Amino acid sequence: MNPFTYDSIASGDSFYDRKDETQRVVQTLLGGNNMVLFAPRRYGKTSLVYKAMEQLSALGVDCVYMDWMPVYSLESFAEQYLKALSKKQTIPEWIASHLSSITSLRPTVSFDTMGKPTFSVDFTEQKVTTATIADILDIPEQMASSGRRVVVVMDEFQEVMKLSKYNMEALLRSKIQLHKHANYLFLGSKTHLMQNMFMRHSRPFYQSASTMQLSLLPEQDTTRFLQERFGKDGIGIRQEECLYIMKQVDNIPYYIQLLSAEVWQALMPNGKEVTRELIDTCCRQVIRLKQDYYYELFSRLAGTHKKVLLAIAKRGKNIFSAEYIREHRLVAASTVQKAVRLLQDEGIVDKEQDTYFVADPFFRRYLLQTYE
Ligand SMILES: Nc1ncnc2c1ncn2[C@@H]1O[C@H](COP(=O)(O)OP(=O)(O)O)[C@@H](O)[C@H]1O
Ligand SMILES: [Mg+2]
Repeated sequence: MNPFTYDSIASGDSFYDRKDETQRVVQTLLGGNNMVLFAPRRYGKTSLVYKAMEQLSALGVDCVYMDWMPVYSLESFAEQYLKALSKKQTIPEWIASHLSSITSLRPTVSFDTMGKPTFSVDFTEQKVTTATIADILDIPEQMASSGRRVVVVMDEFQEVMKLSKYNMEALLRSKIQLHKHANYLFLGSKTHLMQNMFMRHSRPFYQSASTMQLSLLPEQDTTRFLQERFGKDGIGIRQEECLYIMKQVDNIPYYIQLLSAEVWQALMPNGKEVTRELIDTCCRQVIRLKQDYYYELFSRLAGTHKKVLLAIAKRGKNIFSAEYIREHRLVAASTVQKAVRLLQDEGIVDKEQDTYFVADPFFRRYLLQTYE
């Protein structure tokens, strides 16, 4: 079996480093504070938080994990949240009996063949109202005050903005700030949106949580991980080639594993040594597999956006400076700003500190090799 995984949450011995970060998450939440953790997609937020939830659960905390990605309406939020609340760490019967007091919900608990309770809920109203949502939002605190400690993780939290016409952000904030026994951890990928939410004076979540930014994994730890993983199958890889892999994929954890999985695949069953040439071949292979998608992605962008994206693929620092604009034959800083915002909203471009970058390093390479 391929020792590298990239299509699920990294856990067990597939997960390395992040000890300090995990501890900080655990301690902050145990200390009764709320927290926001942001980093670009595929840096390892969800994996890190699963690790932290493991540790919190071991300490007797009920952890509720809710993903905002599939939410598109109040109903879907209610469904996702109730499902999350009734999952393994909590008791379906408790939720069910508790929900009976919310008249617009009809909860049921059924038992599977193993006698394990499962929970589902029907809505008696045509449309779920914000009043019902407000009741649902209080459940974690009620669970907690009956003797349990509860931590609620809200992943991809920037998606709350999909419900902005219901003022969901403000509603959530008004509830959460009264919760004394339930604590919240917000994760987000679109860093510009998350930063606005938690750092702008005018926003409901302004300064409401302790902030933590997740950076890339240290090169030394990645080197150790790669050498150990390849080594198990008798494959050698020198430090130089480890660094070369990291460099090809801008050191992003997900792509490190993806590229390493390709390299491993190409070497099995009899390969002995990872070489630079092989890494190059594998990069080309990944791009070849994705080129139709990349072509589509690029071709549906407007002209200015294409130009800005190509410029960022080359260099992402000081992109609003006069010199940059001249060098890349862009029009004006304001045009670049607008284009970058759209590219960020689409998840095509991301930003770390003051540097912009193409979120998918293979897309960046595709752009450079195709259009330059
Ligand atoms: N600490 C880690 N150790 C090993 N692999 C990791 C780690 N963090 C992330 N990864 C790799 O990156 C992939 C994406 O991680 P994920 O937690 O889903 O990122 P995010 O939630 O930030 O998008 C994982 O499947 C794994 O391959
Ligand atoms: Mg995630």
